[in-house]
Amino acid sequence: MADILDGKALAQTLQTDLAQQIAKIKAAGGRSPGLAVLMVGDNPASAAYVRNKERACEKLGMVSLGKHFPANTTQAELSQVIDELNHDDRVDGILVQLPLPDHLDSVALLNQIHPDKDADGLHPMNLGRLVRGEVGLQSCTPAGVMKLLEEYHIDPRGKHAVVIGRSILVGKPLGLMLLAQDATVTMAHSRTPDLPAVARSADILVAAVGRPNLITADMVKPGAVVIDVGINRITDDGGGRLVGDVDFASVKDVASWITPVPGGVGPMTVTMLMANTVWSYLRRVAG
Ligand SMILES: NC(=O)c1ccc[n+]([C@@H]2O[C@H](COP(=O)([O-])OP(=O)(O)OC[C@H]3O[C@@H](n4cnc5c(N)ncnc54)[C@H](OP(=O)(O)O)[C@@H]3O)[C@@H](O)[C@H]2O)c1
Repeated sequence: MADILDGKALAQTLQTDLAQQIAKIKAAGGRSPGLAVLMVGDNPASAAYVRNKERACEKLGMVSLGKHFPANTTQAELSQVIDELNHDDRVDGILVQLPLPDHLDSVALLNQIHPDKDADGLHPMNLGRLVRGEVGLQSCTPAGVMKLLEEYHIDPRGKHAVVIGRSILVGKPLGLMLLAQDATVTMAHSRTPDLPAVARSADILVAAVGRPNLITADMVKPGAVVIDVGINRITDDGGGRLVGDVDFASVKDVASWITPVPGGVGPMTVTMLMANTVWSYLRRVAG
């Protein structure tokens, strides 16, 4: 039976540390770090994520400078808002909640965020720093996964890590982070032949796909570490519930460590967003 990688508990500990750090800054007369989350339209899942982020911000003593826009907001309007936030000294982090409505060019907007305020680490400058192994803002979900591994003393060095999913948000940056820590990394995706065999070769198996129960026990090497990034809402029993990409019930009997959904990677993502904003604040204040 696998041990649990408890993202909820670790997130709580890290948030308490951040809150103390922020309280000290304020006690010394400093301003609070500020995060602006931009949300367009009324996608219910996005609205829930944004609410979580804004609540976490306030709980930690940070300033939430987010803005919500109607679904028909134009590219030019959003572009102007990002420009203003780039120049607003109260703002240390800017995040555009994805996905955006189809008429908007999200890449152009993400590229417009000042790299030093790029709380989600998706600007090409920060992605480039990641590729080069330089210090920079890093994408929150993969950074949260790495923090979980560190907390539980799971050293990727020399391990075979298989990351299923190659999105710019999760899979690709996570592959690079694991590589930087000396794992041998395989990136798998929808065109990977014989995914079960590839998955079974992993010492660290990460599923970042968005398919409920894609990973079953027969796809996991006994003793592997299994990280479930997926968040899928299913409505099989009348009410809705969240499940990951991993069939937790069967895989927990094969893996050595496993993240639950909910309570695994999700809370770490929000926490790393707060940590990125404080990091950016400290760099900006220090000049
Ligand atoms: N826990 C968190 O905080 C957090 C944060 C972000 C995302 N998520 C969740 O993580 C999941 C992935 O998110 P994302 O933004 O990375 O999704 P995405 O952009 O849709 O990417 C999904 C990836 O999965 C691959 N894929 C799809 N079907 C597959 C299959 N049958 N076998 C193997 N690979 C397959 C795709 O391959 P191709 O490239 O070949 O199409 C793609 O690379 C979603 O459930 C999302 O909700 C969770």
